[in-house]
Amino acid sequence: MKIYVAGHTGLVGSAIMRMLDKNAFTNIITRSLEELDLRNQVEVNAFFEQERPDWVFLAAAKVGGIHANNTFPAEFIYDNTMIAFNIIHAAYQHKVKKLLFLGSSCIYPKMAPQPIKEEYLLTGSLEPTNEAYAIAKISGLELCKFYRRQYGCDFISAMPTNLYGINDNFDLNSSHVLPALIRKFHEAKEGNSPYVELWGSGKPLREFLYVDDLADALLHLMRHYSDEIHVNVGTGEDISIHDLALLIKEVVGYSGELRYDSAKPDGTPRKLLDVSRLNQSGWHYKTSLKKGVERVYHWYKEKQG
Ligand SMILES: NC(=O)c1ccc[n+]([C@@H]2O[C@H](COP(=O)([O-])OP(=O)(O)OC[C@H]3O[C@@H](n4cnc5c(N)ncnc54)[C@H](OP(=O)(O)O)[C@@H]3O)[C@@H](O)[C@H]2O)c1
Repeated sequence: MKIYVAGHTGLVGSAIMRMLDKNAFTNIITRSLEELDLRNQVEVNAFFEQERPDWVFLAAAKVGGIHANNTFPAEFIYDNTMIAFNIIHAAYQHKVKKLLFLGSSCIYPKMAPQPIKEEYLLTGSLEPTNEAYAIAKISGLELCKFYRRQYGCDFISAMPTNLYGINDNFDLNSSHVLPALIRKFHEAKEGNSPYVELWGSGKPLREFLYVDDLADALLHLMRHYSDEIHVNVGTGEDISIHDLALLIKEVVGYSGELRYDSAKPDGTPRKLLDVSRLNQSGWHYKTSLKKGVERVYHWYKEKQG
């Protein structure tokens, strides 16, 4: 089967490439941003006309933490809308057998009841710090739903929780909290800094899924799921930012202090997914947070040389 992985160099895309290799899929096509800018509809159509993939994993997107979302909202809504609409429409026009679109748990309502069920989408106001990104992602999900309803396309959507793993973004201005903490503690240990400063209060609760577990879940969904509603993908367990910091401090082996900059935003108070739909379909996560962080820190240290 010919499989196109959009965004194959990213955190999720590279994990999908590892999963396909591990499962002996051989006919894989990829294009870098330089080779194919997915915001360009003419280029995307020409690519689908030439390659005619059977399956598509849509893991390309403009992604970032609170700071990046706050600073570049226009780019987040434009890039993510164009990428989703260009690929999903081209997939329909070129009779792609199955397509998987990726949303993100940050697109659920800010004050959604916890844990968050798939049905809670579009039932309340969004988290202002990533509204632009959320609107773009919601429209991608709805596009898959309505192309299935009108044209019978087998397009499905997964809604992953916060992800972490190798090939993550460790830039302190645009990364998510977990890779930022690994870098901060590593540099503090190397530099013998007396303390590490963290954003906010440490109270928010977050769920984290090892990205290779996500890739495994996406293959499970491509093989066994076909329906309009998106599917939450997570562990169903959360941890406070403070306890996450203590876990990473221990894995890194840093002995200094933690300090909090309460002037910085906390974001959503809690964001835990209800993963019963996925669990009932027979899939459960495999990698514990401690084990996952240990693997990522080992990879990060190697990369620092
Ligand atoms: N990271 C998370 O915690 C998380 C959580 C839930 C859901 N997700 C979802 O997972 C998906 C992938 O996220 P990620 O974390 O893997 O992001 P990432 O690491 O930033 O990777 C994004 C990928 O998209 C490519 N890309 C971006 N703009 C492009 C364009 N205009 N044309 C072609 N390629 C383009 C990037 O190519 P370059 O490397 O060349 O820029 C990269 O390969 C997104 O849909 C996101 O919503 C992520």
